[in-house]
Amino acid sequence: MTTTGGATSLMSEIEALVDGVPGWSPVDELFTLSLLARATVGLPGDLVEVGSWLGRSAIVLAAAARDTGGRVHCIDLFPARDDWRCNTDGSYSCSVEIDGRRYGGYQEQTVWAGPFQAQLAPRYDETPDILEGFHANLHARGLERFVAAHRGTTATFAASALPGFQVRLLFIDGDHGYRAVVDDIDRLVPYLVPGGWICFDDAGSGYDGVDRAIADRILNNPGFDVTAQMTRKCFVARRARPAMR
Ligand SMILES: C[S@@+](CC[C@H](N)C(=O)[O-])C[C@H]1O[C@@H](n2cnc3c(N)ncnc32)[C@H](O)[C@@H]1O
Repeated sequence: MTTTGGATSLMSEIEALVDGVPGWSPVDELFTLSLLARATVGLPGDLVEVGSWLGRSAIVLAAAARDTGGRVHCIDLFPARDDWRCNTDGSYSCSVEIDGRRYGGYQEQTVWAGPFQAQLAPRYDETPDILEGFHANLHARGLERFVAAHRGTTATFAASALPGFQVRLLFIDGDHGYRAVVDDIDRLVPYLVPGGWICFDDAGSGYDGVDRAIADRILNNPGFDVTAQMTRKCFVARRARPAMR
């Protein structure tokens, strides 16, 4: 661990926290997320993540919530192995039944066969229940009390949000199809407080749906006053504060 005068650096803490947790968020992106979450200290609201899988990014956001207040709401379908089906082109999508209704994941931007076979499917051998695995990973790091998992979509999450719910950091890393990302933005940005940040995974890195959704909803939108590609695949924008009169 890197220490200065006995203090552990944030980067070292992040590396240690996510060590051994499977997922897709690289440490530079997690560092960016953590910094932005910490920069919103003092703003009202919680942190929200769309797309949690086994908790790799949620762990880092939970540590930021531990240090700055509030909680992380983690929205995911948490699909079981049997919820996945192979499409005619060999790629994969999922469909999950929750409270008697079916919700689709990866319908438009499907999961390519290679990553599915190499990274997704083998996880079920070790962790048949992804939501249980998510909780176990948070629990093992003493961070579970800073997290509220929501098994569903942004639509079901928004439908259950309490009056007055506010968000100071939003991380979008769920279904990467254009309509899904636009839906995430349209349903969740209304809760984002002025000065709060929205972060996108897999921006500018070959996911056309993510890039088009950012172009249509975020770029040149006067509702955001800072936009920046922060790391190879992490794009961020800040909700503008109302102009002073
Ligand atoms: C790339 S993974 C998230 C990775 C995670 N942030 C990490 O750091 O490892 C995407 C997640 O989005 C979830 N997902 C896919 N479609 C979804 C949808 N329509 N609503 C909610 N979650 C969805 C998947 O179950 C999966 O866990």
